[in-house]
Amino acid sequence: MRILSGIQPSGVFHIGNYFGMMKKMIQHQEHHELFAFIANLHAMTSQPEGKALAANTVEAAASFLALGLDPQRSVFWVQSDVPEVTELTWVLSNVTSMGLLERCHSYKDKVAKGIPANHGLFAYPVLMTADILAFQSDRVPVGKDQKQHLEVARDIAVKFNLAYGDTFVVPEAEIDEQVAVVPGLDGQKMSKSYGNTIDIFCDERVMRKQVMSIVTDSTPVEHPKDPDRCNLFALMSLFLTPAEREDLAARYRAGGLGYGEVKKDLVARIQDTFAPFRARREELLADRERLGRILEGGAEKARQVAARTLRDVRERTGLNYLARSG
Ligand code: ADP
Ligand code: TRP
Repeated sequence: MRILSGIQPSGVFHIGNYFGMMKKMIQHQEHHELFAFIANLHAMTSQPEGKALAANTVEAAASFLALGLDPQRSVFWVQSDVPEVTELTWVLSNVTSMGLLERCHSYKDKVAKGIPANHGLFAYPVLMTADILAFQSDRVPVGKDQKQHLEVARDIAVKFNLAYGDTFVVPEAEIDEQVAVVPGLDGQKMSKSYGNTIDIFCDERVMRKQVMSIVTDSTPVEHPKDPDRCNLFALMSLFLTPAEREDLAARYRAGGLGYGEVKKDLVARIQDTFAPFRARREELLADRERLGRILEGGAEKARQVAARTLRDVRERTGLNYLARSG
């Protein structure tokens, strides 16, 4: 089975990105054919500044590799290094109805947040569809917020297959309900755009400050607490085994447990989990040549697959005009 997903290089990664998407991707390398990329073309919709986009792209690539993405075992590249995808975007645009895109919540939400309502933002799901279909992906692990975009991708794949014959694998979304939405410091979805994140690669002092500012209710220490309604518990759970989670839930219900104590434990867990990755990321960032070689190699492998799909698409749609016009 082929599994594919992309992540935007927008600023720093937080633990919502990690548990919602990156960790799953890294685990999939063990048993499946994995395709993973840094979606810098998508990031253009929110990052008009070239130097910042370039820096974020390099940092995102180094971060994903540091977290465990293995370029020997998987195909890992930067989106814009595979131009077949942008060509496919145009082809797919012609079987994409306006209504389908107009219904997308993500577009409406981003415009409401003040991101300019340009064509790139509107056509974003078509580019995402091309990412998925160009590589004939079977499964796409994403957070819940991307569910509708996966429905768009399936819709477009089916429509193209009906119009031109069986061309694309119709992809399935993979959304892990347990970590579908990692809450942020304030209990809303953790997101860069809400400024409520716990960042993976920031220095320990900053991370500690972020954890200490997790919003909790004002139940006194000695009173019983409800783990299921506690944002801090949900965050802590990400780092616990099922048995540890049960144990902590019991301590919540028994009373006598202060939120400060849980926060301290959470800081330690985050530190233990991510400190080795931080060191690896620094090493990668210090050797740009090596990083460049890894990404170039990945793009080459990715292009071979996308080019095969595009040959078929060109054939079916008449873009290979000489062969078809005779
Ligand atoms: P952000 O909301 O911080 O801008 P992105 O939209 O760049 O994050 O998301 C990158 C990936 O991480 C996507 O697959 C997305 O679904 C996942 N993701 C982001 N935030 C969360 C979250 N709070 N919980 C679970 N998954 C998330
Ligand atoms: N839109 C996705 C996000 O913001 C990133 C992305 C781009 C993606 N292309 C993709 C995810 C293809 C899965 C498959 O999170």
